[in-house]
Amino acid sequence: MPKDVMRNPSSVWHPYTQMSEWDKFTEIVGGKGMWLIDSEGHRMLDGVASMWCNVWGHSKREIISAIQRQSKKSPHTSLFNLTHPEAESLAKKLVSISPNMSRVFYSDNGSTAMEIAFKIAIQYWQNVNNPARTRFVTLTNGYHGDTFGTMSVGFVPAFFWRFKKNMYKTIQIPFANSYRIPRKTSIEDYYEQTLERIEKSLSRDDVAAFVMESGAQIAGGVNIYRNDFQSKIGRLCRKYNVLFILDEIATGFGRLGSLVEYTAQKSPPDIVAYGKMMTAGYLPMAATLTTERIYKSFLGKYSDMKHLYHGHTYTGNALACAVANQNIMLYKKTNLIAKIKKTSRIMSRRLGEIKKIEIVGDIRYKGMLAGIELVSDQRTKKPLRFTKSVNRVVFEAARKNGVYLRTLGNILVLVPPLAISEKEMNFLIDGTIKTLKSILSERRL
Ligand SMILES: Cc1ncc(COP(=O)(O)O)c(C=O)c1O
Repeated sequence: MPKDVMRNPSSVWHPYTQMSEWDKFTEIVGGKGMWLIDSEGHRMLDGVASMWCNVWGHSKREIISAIQRQSKKSPHTSLFNLTHPEAESLAKKLVSISPNMSRVFYSDNGSTAMEIAFKIAIQYWQNVNNPARTRFVTLTNGYHGDTFGTMSVGFVPAFFWRFKKNMYKTIQIPFANSYRIPRKTSIEDYYEQTLERIEKSLSRDDVAAFVMESGAQIAGGVNIYRNDFQSKIGRLCRKYNVLFILDEIATGFGRLGSLVEYTAQKSPPDIVAYGKMMTAGYLPMAATLTTERIYKSFLGKYSDMKHLYHGHTYTGNALACAVANQNIMLYKKTNLIAKIKKTSRIMSRRLGEIKKIEIVGDIRYKGMLAGIELVSDQRTKKPLRFTKSVNRVVFEAARKNGVYLRTLGNILVLVPPLAISEKEMNFLIDGTIKTLKSILSERRL
């Protein structure tokens, strides 16, 4: 084992991290608005929205009060045999913002919300006497979580290849981002070919559902869909009587500029999952919503055993429900979606400055999301590489410029808290430019 391995004395094992690269981790001891404060008193603007979920910053009075109020009443009671007012009112709110949806199943994180969507889909077909429909059709580079079910459906090769043998079979339609489509193929032709492949798969009689991220793939490379792509897939699902499952865990709740992305995409699903920003980044919670048609297929006599066999200890946690209720009220009260549209214009306008930097190959963006693909050669599009991970190098350089940044492989993802001010958005872009320029000049030395 190399000498520097195991230098870090902490007992914490960090996610998606080569632990030997880090002597120690920057310790965050506080948060104020959009800023993170570390144990040495330095401030960093949170360009990652604390893993894509923070909405209002880190000290939103109304959200903290909602937690305090609810914790005095009851922090957690079970939804097994019982209900509580916060779960009831949140379900009503979620249904009211989600056209065509009528029922809500709560869980603790995005991965479980998607697992629930898959279980509902499989059992739905059993309930309606078509048990042969068990397969999921998906796009490559989709991401739906890190559990085995979600890895099977949303295979991102770089993340999951080690576990492939243990995954279940799905039908994966090849799908690349616009920067990496096959050479000599126009983007229009590429999308047409993809839709043709999807249609062919959906015509099989063993398909339970088509599953995709709504509006864009994020973890698999920040791939923003072209107009009509998602709605055309939705129409194909209807044509072949296949369920259409949308994952809005990272792209809903305003990340791409709409409260519910499938309304912007004109593609109503049969099942949709929300997570991340639903609780503004304060407490873990997710939800799986279905249409009335799907829900009704689960009804029957107890002895039919048609009910959904799924539930977690913290399903419908009262604190999280209270936070989500308060969060949705704040979206409305502050007209957050209109504000996002304005702030995101700064981001799109200024991304041109980033594009000029020599190590930037491509930038893909929508709403409050941008993926900056880093390359060592703009002509050959060869991904930028260091002996250390690109993430480690970018994080260190960004920290010195007062911003918290993270990459997915060689893609720097800008995902600021949604309520970020225009001034802070400019600071984030300035910090990103300084970071990339400092990396470039170090490479030249
Ligand atoms: C689109 C999408 N679906 C599902 C998930 C999984 O959510 P969680 O990390 O809360 O399990 C993520 C997480 O990043 C995601 O981006």
